[in-house]
Amino acid sequence: MINNIIFDFDSTIINAEGNELLVQSALHNMETSKRKPLLDKLKDYTHKATNGEIPLSEAMRGRYALTRVTQKDVDKVAKDILTIINPLIGEIIADLKKRQKNVLVFSTSLEQIVLPVTEKLGIPKENVFTNQPVYDQNGHITGIDENNPLFMTMGKVYVAEKLKNKNLLAGGTAIIGDGYSDLVVKKNNLAEIFIYYSGTVDREEVRLQADFTVERFDQLLPLLSSTDEYSQDKFTSKSKITMDVFPETFLLENIHPVAIAKFKEQQFNIENYNNAWLEQKIIEKAVRANVLGIRSKTKITTQVIQNMSDLWVIGAFCIGTNQIDLDSASNAGIPVFNAPYSNTRSVAELVVGETILLMRRTFEKSTAAHNGKWFKKAEGSSEVRGKVVGIIGYGHIGSQVSVMLENLGMTVLFHDIVDKLPLGNAKRAKDLYDLLEKSDVVTLHVPDTPETRGMIGEKELIKMKRHSYLLNLSRGKVVDLAALRKMLDYGHIAGAAVDVFPDEPGSVDEKFETPLQNAPNVILTPHIGGSTQEAQENIANYVSEKLSNYVHTGSTIGSVNFPEIELPRVVNTHRILHIHKNVPGVLAKINSVFARRNINVEGQILQTRDKIGYLIVDVNTDVSDQVYEIMKHITETIKVRRII
Ligand SMILES: NC(=O)c1ccc[n+]([C@@H]2O[C@H](COP(=O)([O-])OP(=O)(O)OC[C@H]3O[C@@H](n4cnc5c(N)ncnc54)[C@H](O)[C@@H]3O)[C@@H](O)[C@H]2O)c1
Repeated sequence: MINNIIFDFDSTIINAEGNELLVQSALHNMETSKRKPLLDKLKDYTHKATNGEIPLSEAMRGRYALTRVTQKDVDKVAKDILTIINPLIGEIIADLKKRQKNVLVFSTSLEQIVLPVTEKLGIPKENVFTNQPVYDQNGHITGIDENNPLFMTMGKVYVAEKLKNKNLLAGGTAIIGDGYSDLVVKKNNLAEIFIYYSGTVDREEVRLQADFTVERFDQLLPLLSSTDEYSQDKFTSKSKITMDVFPETFLLENIHPVAIAKFKEQQFNIENYNNAWLEQKIIEKAVRANVLGIRSKTKITTQVIQNMSDLWVIGAFCIGTNQIDLDSASNAGIPVFNAPYSNTRSVAELVVGETILLMRRTFEKSTAAHNGKWFKKAEGSSEVRGKVVGIIGYGHIGSQVSVMLENLGMTVLFHDIVDKLPLGNAKRAKDLYDLLEKSDVVTLHVPDTPETRGMIGEKELIKMKRHSYLLNLSRGKVVDLAALRKMLDYGHIAGAAVDVFPDEPGSVDEKFETPLQNAPNVILTPHIGGSTQEAQENIANYVSEKLSNYVHTGSTIGSVNFPEIELPRVVNTHRILHIHKNVPGVLAKINSVFARRNINVEGQILQTRDKIGYLIVDVNTDVSDQVYEIMKHITETIKVRRII
């Protein structure tokens, strides 16, 4: 339990730096041209000392050497400062005292300006530790008492240590502030937690090392009070808790009705549009979206992601995700789901059909018939039954093709860089060349990788059986099309079916060109391997299922950019999804807070991937409010969502 709460004074209790205010006041009457560089220097000292870039002692000496601070300045600032007390601090301190907490103030400012404030806040004088000025005989401040520990960067550590040794810091301690001198108290194990709060500028160097970060004082209470003390009081109710029952869902690019029906069934609030949107339009119109569904034309840029702070998840209702800046999505805590395998069957069916059509030279004869020619000869036409098909890439599509062509009586050989289980009577070829030499038909089903680009060139085509056939419905850069044309013209390759090309037109108005045009027995199709109604429906089913799973359970299985986890729900619990920066110790930090508060975790799972850590925690409904609050303020937090 946290019993002692040490507040930093400057930028915490007051929204300014006390030492800066004094020197500023002394510089007040100086003419602007002279004053400006001194004020800059003053700010620089504060900035560097607070970030720990220079020793505090150097900043103290430097600041007070800039001008002569008089008792008049001290009196003025002591009066003015009462008007810049952080408005919520009075209520918070009163609440902490009501809960019997020991409230202390450690300040590097001078006693004369700190005490009027702490007195007003009802903090006993013996709990307030400050610096002391040194005066000359004329009452001018010539410097600060350098024997006082708070004159130094480690000053707060020394003060805390002394209190601890006198048993005046019994129980757990939290320190709240924005400076390096506050952080070191935690680093030296004199406080269990360091909570970052800055009422002035953000000090990222310090913030990133804090256990928790709060933007407002009222957010402190849930972090400081124990489970028993915690209640739905006026402070906690101020924090906005996201209830995710009816997610705002924006669907662009005419998403299949199956998906819309599924979302409606689950009471998602849907806005459905037919077209792709440009960056600015998404930012303006879909800014409140929790769920965003697109197809391949809408570009989801860093700009879009950074402007959509309420976005939980993106669904790409298509195969690829090149249109989405996946890194930015991950960094913003947004998983992306697509449907990479929903069109497997469509591609496999076309491969089967084209294998038959090629071996019967159907297209050639059909084109001739269209042109009034009657090519009825059986020469060069054969059945597929009894022939050998060589499948390169035995993944989702390759293995489907394997089963289907074997059922037509073909012998299947395959080649894959991964050790794959052969289906039916399929056999693994010794290597790529073994497959090429033995196959009557070769079909490619590999991804686009540096290794597969150009993997079928002249050398490989020559290795293929004379009068064999080649199909490429995988990726455009896998086959050297000029070399293929040459081999078709020689008659070494008897025919080819190609669905994918290195340069594909972006629209119907763009001209399509390939060296294969007008080659004998070649089927050219415009990347339609996976384009069927069924595939569209499968995609809609698959992606909407993934999105609603994520919304309702936090499951990220199948996400392209996120750690993949799922956890069965436990009854009578609330689930907190915590997405954080993947740095060591986050889970330990969270669990130590839970332990300190006796919070029983009913279920928990953590997975990391690159820069992202994703934690699912199930806790009893009674404590979910406070767990949610704690998780929100953990410094490494990127996004938190509660599922009730
Ligand atoms: N024409 C279309 O409309 C269409 C539609 C869907 C998919 N595709 C493409 O089809 C291809 C296969 O898709 P999938 O869903 O079966 O993918 P998959 O990832 O399930 O399978 C790919 C297989 O290729 C293997 N592989 C990778 N590199 C290899 C190499 N150098 N040599 C041999 N094997 C290698 C992998 O181990 C894997 O088994 C992909 O390129 C995909 O983009 C095209």
